[in-house]
Amino acid sequence: MAEEMIKKNDLIYLILDNRRKWLVTVKEGEEFQTHKGIIKFDEIIGKPFGSVVFSQPYETQGYKFYVLKPLPSDYVIHMSRKTQIIYPEDAGLILVYSGIGPGSKVIEAGCGSGALTCILGNYVRPDGYIYSYDIREKSLKRALRNVIKANLQDFVSIQYGDILIDDFEHTNVDSVVLDMPQPWKAIERIKTYLKLSGTLVSFSPTIEQVKKTTFALQENGFYEINTYELIKRKFQVKENATHPEVRMIGHTGYMTFARKIKDIKNPYREKKPKQDEFVKLNGMPLRGGEE
Ligand SMILES: C[S@@+](CC[C@H](N)C(=O)[O-])C[C@H]1O[C@@H](n2cnc3c(N)ncnc32)[C@H](O)[C@@H]1O
Repeated sequence: MAEEMIKKNDLIYLILDNRRKWLVTVKEGEEFQTHKGIIKFDEIIGKPFGSVVFSQPYETQGYKFYVLKPLPSDYVIHMSRKTQIIYPEDAGLILVYSGIGPGSKVIEAGCGSGALTCILGNYVRPDGYIYSYDIREKSLKRALRNVIKANLQDFVSIQYGDILIDDFEHTNVDSVVLDMPQPWKAIERIKTYLKLSGTLVSFSPTIEQVKKTTFALQENGFYEINTYELIKRKFQVKENATHPEVRMIGHTGYMTFARKIKDIKNPYREKKPKQDEFVKLNGMPLRGGEE
């Protein structure tokens, strides 16, 4: 694939070193101020992603900055946030275990800071859509800003909506993704939005929430109900000192997945065999039961 050139209004990942990294939109004729000098955007426009740029004034600053194309994980870590966000590794599991991909129609509640919204929006392109709802005005505003910054506004809507009480006009969506305090209360309503075989994903920080959600899913006839937790370990790689980093994030949350099905009773296997129908081997029953 040909090298991708940086254009005006592109989002870039500007890196000075391991600790100093920014997500910035390239504005023609404008500049980005850092404590290590000024980056003039006109110097970046027209260069390929993966290039370097030096801060000005060159004589007194002249630090080297790397310009990369941001990955979905970079959006999440560097975006503006107030609520607890979903981390990239959890978002990865959500994508592969929900089947959300190009063309998927997805309901999300709540959008929070829009971290997961941006990842999902990125993956449903070019013809899918994320309908994201929240009940807090601050979350809605912040999420919308982040979605626009990621240039995903054609694939995502951010709207006021209470998933517990509002009737949304959605039917046959591929997936519903919940990251909110009481997901179990939303399960019955959500069933009406999902298509058959569609996936429900619920992200919760506590096991108490997971249990309530799982029981609600069982009561509402969902199938393939599974909960997972991911522990990610980053490695320090050095000559004679390679090992997992000493500090790590010990807990993010639990992810519960389920499928909507249309169940009917099995007319062929309703009657269980009686005890005396069991075959016996040398006086021992083949399955359970007494002599
Ligand atoms: C932890 S945040 C979600 C973070 C988000 N997944 C992210 O990655 O940025 C939880 C959000 O759920 C919203 N929320 C709570 N109850 C809700 C409801 N009944 N309907 C819609 N959103 C709700 C809250 O306002 C809050 O913004």
